[in-house]
Amino acid sequence: MKDWPYPLWIAHRGAGKLAPENTLAAFRVGASFGYRAFECDVKLSADGVPFLLHDDTLERTTPASGTAGARPWAELARLDAGAWHSRAYAGEPLPSLGRIARYCLHNAFALNIEIKPTPGDEENTGRVVAQEAARLWAGHRALAPLLSSFRPIALTGARQSAPQLPRALLLDNLWSGWFEVAQDNACVAVITNHRVMDAALIAQLHGAGLRALVYTVNEAVDAQRLLALHIDGIITDAVDRFAPAGGLGFMA
Ligand code: G3P
Ligand code: MG
Repeated sequence: MKDWPYPLWIAHRGAGKLAPENTLAAFRVGASFGYRAFECDVKLSADGVPFLLHDDTLERTTPASGTAGARPWAELARLDAGAWHSRAYAGEPLPSLGRIARYCLHNAFALNIEIKPTPGDEENTGRVVAQEAARLWAGHRALAPLLSSFRPIALTGARQSAPQLPRALLLDNLWSGWFEVAQDNACVAVITNHRVMDAALIAQLHGAGLRALVYTVNEAVDAQRLLALHIDGIITDAVDRFAPAGGLGFMA
């Protein structure tokens, strides 16, 4: 297997649920608990700017509604993406990928960019996000972000525009043909729902030179099981309960 530069513990959407997901504030909270690797969801504005948002639409995490990817970045950048979470975070903006890249590079943090396309825009999103990531991380090869997606065609787009950036296939279940898709897209890792990861799957992945990662592990019993199997990466919301460095990763 190739060298694996990413820390074992990865904070989901910045800091899970302790701060508004996919905001810079969330990354700061994750970092305050010692996390040095982060996962976030990235899609495109109508004018092609990669920015952080999980949902296709705006209503859950901002005062606006409708398809996020239908609005230009200038409009999205003015939205409050923090007040929905708690008063302390009111006014927190939706971050562009550029803003998060600067934060991660400055702190030497690793990033897993989940390409989360607006439906219908999968390949283009993969292409543009990878192109922008390659530009933002140029000259910082050791910190190159891991690009992942549930959508194979988004990974294909990413490979077209930035073949040098590592890719991972995300799997909620082991659908027919997943292994060939991971190999066809020259993925370096597969990231599954933690419930489907077991010793046989890790052996299959490691045997093919791929790393095995899981999302979203929030219970100690699940973390213990996966650590015993020598999992390569764990994405978690529970940044206040799993210590990212040393031992089994549990906070006292
Ligand atoms: O990247 C893994 C995980 O984030 C996938 O699920 O829905 O939280 O983006 P979701
Ligand atoms: Mg995600």
